[in-house]
Amino acid sequence: MNIAIIGSGYVGLVTGVCLAQIGHKVSCVDVDEEKIGKLKQGKVPIYEPGLGELLKKNLKNKRLTFTTSIREATRKSTAIFIAVGTPSKKNGDADLTYVENVARQIAVNMNGYKLIIEKSTVPAETGKRVARTIKMNLPRKQKLDFDVASNPEFLREGSAVHDFMNPDRVVIGVESKKAELLFREIYKPLKPDMVVTNISSAELIKHASNSFLAAKISFMNSISQVCERLGADVLKVAEGMGFDKRIGRAFLNAGIGYGGSCFPKDVDAFIRISEKSGYDFSMLKEVRKVNEEQKTFFVRLIEDKLWIVKNKVIGVLGLAFKPDTDDMRSAPSIDIINALLQEGAKIKAYDPVAMPNARKILKKIVYGKDPYEVAKGCDCLLLLTEWDEFRKLDFKKIEALMKQPILFDGRNLYHDMGLEKIGFEYYGVGRGDRHVNDVGA
Ligand code: NAD
Ligand code: UGA
Repeated sequence: MNIAIIGSGYVGLVTGVCLAQIGHKVSCVDVDEEKIGKLKQGKVPIYEPGLGELLKKNLKNKRLTFTTSIREATRKSTAIFIAVGTPSKKNGDADLTYVENVARQIAVNMNGYKLIIEKSTVPAETGKRVARTIKMNLPRKQKLDFDVASNPEFLREGSAVHDFMNPDRVVIGVESKKAELLFREIYKPLKPDMVVTNISSAELIKHASNSFLAAKISFMNSISQVCERLGADVLKVAEGMGFDKRIGRAFLNAGIGYGGSCFPKDVDAFIRISEKSGYDFSMLKEVRKVNEEQKTFFVRLIEDKLWIVKNKVIGVLGLAFKPDTDDMRSAPSIDIINALLQEGAKIKAYDPVAMPNARKILKKIVYGKDPYEVAKGCDCLLLLTEWDEFRKLDFKKIEALMKQPILFDGRNLYHDMGLEKIGFEYYGVGRGDRHVNDVGA
């Protein structure tokens, strides 16, 4: 099928490349000319494992093209995915300016039947507004048929290609048989389990899923606080809970809170949608509060164990909001580093791929070329993103390089490495090996 993807960011680009890989002819559109220029040359502007090879392959076989023209892509496509950003407004609402803008541009350029699909994460009922926008902006005097549908995306950054190609389910919100059949044709090669529903339910499935996952993380972060106070180990608690198939082990990792471009904004948006509908989703407000507090607790622990933070040199390993991505959007590292800078600390940091993006946000810190350069002369080290390469470090060397061998492990990455035995003072999250009020203990 001829398919257009409007918005070639993390989701749009992965969707476009993967749909080409399974046999469709795909035009990816973006307003960012520099991005489109790079993509035309087969260069991926983001870090996403496996995406580069598929991009090059499908450029070469001409199933994939890139353009800045919505008109060109709209006119030659039957299905048009909208995959632009839906960031948070100050009040937590999803900002749908880009979605509206794209809907209008699709409408004025239509030349026949189109299936217009929301891939972006949007509040329930956006589909109705998109349909209305398209209807109002169709070329006058032309009777053009179209369907609007919702097809939320569940991929995770860092494993996006795998997730797209092996979906747990594909959710489609449709209001015509024709739209459903087109979706079935698009996704046929993946043989997915399909959930077919109306548009509002599909939109809501996405916000409910992300909010539920965020809630799972906040629940475990709360458990980690209790563990610290009662001498229990959150890793064992997660293991013990996770064996129960009704709970599952995934997303039970306590740490420094969730970040990224989606959970924080989607939880905010879901709270707002519920409020507007007349329901106070107080549970979700607590999920958000626990997430913020988790970062504060981590900073307090560092302040407590360092005693004086002012002028201390703090090394940071990992800046991205999670491993295997260069994405710094709402990364917990930003709040933690800013809080320590506020206290007068000097920060040195290293991340395998996120440093170019981090430099645009964290301007008052020094960036090291590797973990050893960061560790040299530090009063303590923080592990903030659990990159695999950080597990393989030479800790004897690091211990020798540091001024004080204190390690705060915000992801429990080193829980089983016996770092205390080689001289480290080691603090994980929720490990029950300390009491939060034991000053200097
Ligand atoms: P992104 O910011 O990486 O990409 C959005 C792209 O849209 C940008 O490249 C931007 O230049 C482009 N754009 C904006 N206006 C445009 C226009 N008028 N015409 C053409 N292009 C335009 O965002 P993202 O992370 O890909 O997220 C997109 C949507 O997908 C969001 O709603 C997000 O919540 C949702 N989502 C994201 C993920 C994820 O892992 N990042 C996963 C599932 C769903
Ligand atoms: C998340 C969802 O997992 C995807 O299904 C969804 O499509 C996407 O949001 C989206 O809507 O954009 P992503 O943000 O890429 O994907 O990453 P996750 O792996 O979900 O991690 C999110 C945050 O939670 C990270 O900061 C991670 O460190 C944190 N996390 C995750 C924990 O603190 N503990 C866990 O057990 C799991």
